[in-house]
Amino acid sequence: MPSLLFRNARIYTPVDEGRALAGVSQGKVAIWDHGALFCKDGRIEAIGEESEVLARLAGSGPDPAGRLSAPQEIDCGGRCMVPGFVDPHTHLCFVHPREKEFLARLDGAEYLEILKAGGGILASVQSVRAASEEELFNVTRDRTLSAMSLGTTTLEIKSGYGLSTEAELKQLRVINRVGRETPLSVVPSFLGAHAVPAEMRGRADDYVDLLTGEMIPAIARQGLARFCDVFCEQGVFSVGQARRILESARGAGMHLKIHADELHDTGGAALAAELHAVSAEHLLAASDQGLRAMAAAGVVAVLLPATAYSMRKPFARGRAMIDMDLPVAIATDCNPGSSCTESMPFAFGLAVMQMRLSVAEALAAATLNAAYAIGMGGECGSLAPGKSADFLLLDGETPAILAFRAGISPVAEVFRAGTRVWPPRAGLPDERKRA
Ligand code: NIG
Ligand code: FE
Repeated sequence: MPSLLFRNARIYTPVDEGRALAGVSQGKVAIWDHGALFCKDGRIEAIGEESEVLARLAGSGPDPAGRLSAPQEIDCGGRCMVPGFVDPHTHLCFVHPREKEFLARLDGAEYLEILKAGGGILASVQSVRAASEEELFNVTRDRTLSAMSLGTTTLEIKSGYGLSTEAELKQLRVINRVGRETPLSVVPSFLGAHAVPAEMRGRADDYVDLLTGEMIPAIARQGLARFCDVFCEQGVFSVGQARRILESARGAGMHLKIHADELHDTGGAALAAELHAVSAEHLLAASDQGLRAMAAAGVVAVLLPATAYSMRKPFARGRAMIDMDLPVAIATDCNPGSSCTESMPFAFGLAVMQMRLSVAEALAAATLNAAYAIGMGGECGSLAPGKSADFLLLDGETPAILAFRAGISPVAEVFRAGTRVWPPRAGLPDERKRA
């Protein structure tokens, strides 16, 4: 792969301090008004003010093989460059959006009541079980590519619509294949504890036995999931059941996440702190005590503002969380029921406008903190030498454009590992060789 020099960009990036950014650090961002990024073999080699990057390149001389190869140059036209979005929480391996259920919820039906009656997540389980592995792969790949066109370069995808050993393995094989066969970097999570399947209705403890005795060992043996997640919620899995599942997963080598305190405060945030989970998600109903315990334990809060939007619920207290030194990330939660969007620009806009994050805080939430929430902080999430050259060119001067241009995507171009992956046509309009 040739070396590439991107010039004439307004670069905005969070600065990696080796862990998710908390408190005032979350609001700090490096800015180069006339910036350049130099990358080789998909990795960033230099970034900064253009004059400094050019001076560095001029001083570096020939490579070890004695070649003095001029990089290919790309003029970014003064557009804003930011790291590629990292979406650290999705359920986008599903067949159909549940649009009729959305209409019913708009008419007052309750999300958990729909689930109790065998709909909701359980309706999606039926279609995922019925789909062939190829069909499931095709819809999942297409949705992932749609996320990429909106700026996502790394994402987490959960299972959780199989709820049997066979169907969970099928979902996880599909999720891993999407990582191999699309340009994106994909982190797979096992969410067998998403609901109790219809055939085990009323026997949640027996299902927990199946999860710990059969599913987790099988998935660990095949190396199909990096994380294990649990939907810890009233009427779904209790704190005690979640603890059993997560301890078993940790014993099998997986890292931990929890859907915690989404609709009710059941103590999920405190459990995430107790287990030193990497992240706790949702947190709409979390208590201050639970959030403080998370901050002390270094758990990343993954907030899902598009879910609050779609559920007509009050937004998670993102502003207060940052003020209490809790590192905040944002994600789409893309799923067929409670948040049917793969758009990180939409989540970004809601984080700024509804959760009152500053633009800089939202940028860290959608990139570096999101990367740390899925164990990818060393690889991506900020623009720095050594990291993968995953970045976006925005049709705008600053990342504020993501919140300002509501309802559309200002993401003009997406680069993953130094290669332009969106728009798909080869060749850039401003490309030219250095004379
Ligand atoms: O994170 N809350 C649990 N799981 C998903 C929703 C899944 C669905 O409704 O299909 C969520 O919101
Ligand atoms: Fe979720």
